[in-house]
Amino acid sequence: MAKWTVVTMPGDGIGNQVLPEALRILKAVEFDADYVHADIGWDCWCREGNALPDRTVELLAKHKLGLFGAITSKPKKEAEAELKLELKGKGFSYFSPIVTMRQKFHLDTCIRPCISFPGNPLNFIRKSSNGGYDEPYVNVVVFRQNTEGLYAGVEWTNPPEQVRTALATHSKFKPFAKTPGSDLAISVRIITRKAARKICKAAFDWAKKYGYKSVTICEKPNVLRETSGMMEEEARAVAKEYPGIALWSTNIDAQTMWLTKNPEEYGVVVASNLFGDVISDAFAGLIGGLGFAASGNIGDEVAVFEPTHGSAPKYAALNPPIVNPIAMFLSAVMMLEHVGEIEKARRIREAIAAVVKEGAVRTYDMMRIPGGAMAISQGAASTTEMTNAILAKLETSRELVGAGLSRERV
Ligand code: NAI
Ligand code: MG
Repeated sequence: MAKWTVVTMPGDGIGNQVLPEALRILKAVEFDADYVHADIGWDCWCREGNALPDRTVELLAKHKLGLFGAITSKPKKEAEAELKLELKGKGFSYFSPIVTMRQKFHLDTCIRPCISFPGNPLNFIRKSSNGGYDEPYVNVVVFRQNTEGLYAGVEWTNPPEQVRTALATHSKFKPFAKTPGSDLAISVRIITRKAARKICKAAFDWAKKYGYKSVTICEKPNVLRETSGMMEEEARAVAKEYPGIALWSTNIDAQTMWLTKNPEEYGVVVASNLFGDVISDAFAGLIGGLGFAASGNIGDEVAVFEPTHGSAPKYAALNPPIVNPIAMFLSAVMMLEHVGEIEKARRIREAIAAVVKEGAVRTYDMMRIPGGAMAISQGAASTTEMTNAILAKLETSRELVGAGLSRERV
């Protein structure tokens, strides 16, 4: 029996293209794992009325380690329209299987590294004061609280009377008190002290382990006094336990502006759910965007790794597939690091870095050309060709290591 069993959930669209490629990479570094497939996503919703079937939940509960591609999700009305005829009107409602998975398994810590690969043509370039250009090295890891905040799911259009009555006890609700129910939508931002402390602690632990000099808490406490206020309060309390690491505090709006001014100054960034989602996408844009953005959803027992991108339906039917599999590979790398396979993770990361630096094999996004059927004829590598190039680098590094050459020379 293998040491690890990984639950593989390709999901929808391009998830089915990039996840199998990641398995080729994991096999090449001889990760000692078995893989079990699990269904998730839009097809499950349409056929079964549940985008995260119980059998998938059971597999995750059993094996505790998941690799996930991407899913398609659509607004309420479309979800209802696409549901199988026999299930229509039977009380099924669509919930995002990712959000459900995070909440079910308390995957409360989301880690999103945004680290530039030298030579990536998508890296952020900045005009320097002498009129030239420079390319800051971005090395940011975003810690996003993954289960609370505005994603807690406590929301209404036309809130029930008790909710209105409760809200009426707050003086700031006065201007809204007369708005008809059908014209009133409310989402509740819930932050618990426990979760706030946990995500801040996870951020500081990471900073300590990997030698980052600062942790930035990125919220909006001047306006969201209670919820962002509590995040900030906990960040300050946790910071006291890490004397060598500076705590910086920024507002989410200002941070999105500053990150193109001096992104190299930031190290670990920590935020609540929605702000973490926003700021991690913003930083990811500096290092290559969706083709390079990986993430880990970590709970006390279960961990699931996934690229940040979605199912990109417009490219899902192309043959050969054209999307960049690197975000998926970096998610697999995070999984290896999570289970302690540091050397295998390092080898894959270095192979990716070598291919990116060389620049001979680039998917369409890295060439800055439109995606679509024409991309390949314009010189873009297919998804498989990108994998092959990385596999070739892995093979070279294996041979050189085998021949007794030092790691530095590989
Ligand atoms: P998306 O991330 O699927 O695609 C947006 C665009 O980014 C694509 O059209 C493509 O141009 C580019 N792109 C995405 N992945 C790429 C890759 N690996 N390589 C190169 N280019 C890439 O987001 P979109 O179009 O807003 O959503 C499509 C579906 O995915 C929706 O149903 C949405 O709900 C879902 N979604 C799922 C997510 C997940 O599974 N975690 C996250 C985001 C969206
Ligand atoms: Mg997002």
